[in-house]
Amino acid sequence: MIIALIVLLAYLIGSIPSGLIVGKVGYGIDIRNHGSGNLGGTNTFRTLGIKAGLIVTIADILKGTLAASLPVLFHVDIQALPLFMGMVAAVGHMYPVFANFRGGKAVATSGGVLLFYHPFLFLSMLAVFFVVLYISKYVSLSSMLTAIYTVIFSLFTKDIPLIIVVVILTAFVIYRHRANIKRIINKTEPKVKWL
Ligand code: G3P
Repeated sequence: MIIALIVLLAYLIGSIPSGLIVGKVGYGIDIRNHGSGNLGGTNTFRTLGIKAGLIVTIADILKGTLAASLPVLFHVDIQALPLFMGMVAAVGHMYPVFANFRGGKAVATSGGVLLFYHPFLFLSMLAVFFVVLYISKYVSLSSMLTAIYTVIFSLFTKDIPLIIVVVILTAFVIYRHRANIKRIINKTEPKVKWL
């Protein structure tokens, strides 16, 4: 029963549409009607600027961290549960009940889960992300290669729940980037200008 409640809470936390709230409350727009149409930090940066983009990115990371910490907060001591609750939050972020199931690509929220579960992995993800971004100028490519990096890293840990969860999250991340992949191939994917 308590686990069902935690699953529900994790999904609802993941469903909080940070990008929609910041866009609507602060600027009166739905960012899904602008830029890439994605409900995420990158499209918020692109559409509304650095301040809004940072708020949404940090909020999306914290959704994953909070969902992963629910088992600890509820004193449920099952080792793999934080990871799986984080994954539920990532599903909520991609398919949010509060935003007509049109959400984001789960990059920041997945990162937040790993921030809770394996802080070193999270920090090294940031390094991989920014190195790829510096070289390629594509946020989407950086996101996907960072997700693939988590799979490679996890294999060395021999932590089976971690391996399972990052493989599933990476599959979701790549699936949700399929329009970006087409644009990268067609050379129409926007590059960041500030790097
Ligand atoms: O985290 C999402 C990012 O990788 C791509 O976002 O808006 O360029 O599709 P966007």
